[in-house]
Amino acid sequence: MTSDDLLAARRRLIGGNVRIGYRRPLHIVRGSMQYLFDADGRRYLDAYNNVPHVGHCHPRVVDAAERQMRVLNTNTRYLHEHLERYAERVTATLPEPLRVCYFVSSGSEANELALRLARAHTRRRDVIVLDAAYHGNTTTLVDVILNRTQTDKLAVITGPAGTVVVTAVTAPEPPAEKTGRAALIPDQSGVVGV
Ligand SMILES: Cc1ncc(COP(=O)(O)O)c(C=O)c1O
Repeated sequence: MTSDDLLAARRRLIGGNVRIGYRRPLHIVRGSMQYLFDADGRRYLDAYNNVPHVGHCHPRVVDAAERQMRVLNTNTRYLHEHLERYAERVTATLPEPLRVCYFVSSGSEANELALRLARAHTRRRDVIVLDAAYHGNTTTLVDVILNRTQTDKLAVITGPAGTVVVTAVTAPEPPAEKTGRAALIPDQSGVVGV
């Protein structure tokens, strides 16, 4: 399939608000450690995605995932020695008060849980959000990111749901694109609030 074919299929099959990051879409076919490779074999240094911590397709990560998926792929409802052993290894790397783990599957899930823990502990609802920050794609996180009434240089603004926005730079208001009864509001990270 050419890149043009892929783009046409994508427009037909994938939700229109899932944006492609670049004006001329990149057709990335594989990743290896810090690099991505496109369909023409061009190599890109990946300074954008979150994987640089360990690299794309790091062989040890791929091996470990493959081994585990051959044994058991389920949730934390059961006793399993890997769960406790992993928790011990993780907490051993953290400072003393941090001794309890919650394992999650995505950054969005982690931030969602962090928000719930913070709200349960403080019994407050408000959060401080850096303008143009991205925290994930769940409903609560999108609300936290997008609930801002205006942006201005070094301003602290209270949004409609008690969200506080601390703005470091002036950012243009995202355009609101009306589609039927919903408004699609893309922000700089590509998150779209409906
Ligand atoms: C800072 C930050 N928080 C949260 C997320 C959401 O992570 P996930 O896509 O795994 O839900 C991302 C993903 O890019 C991120 O960069």
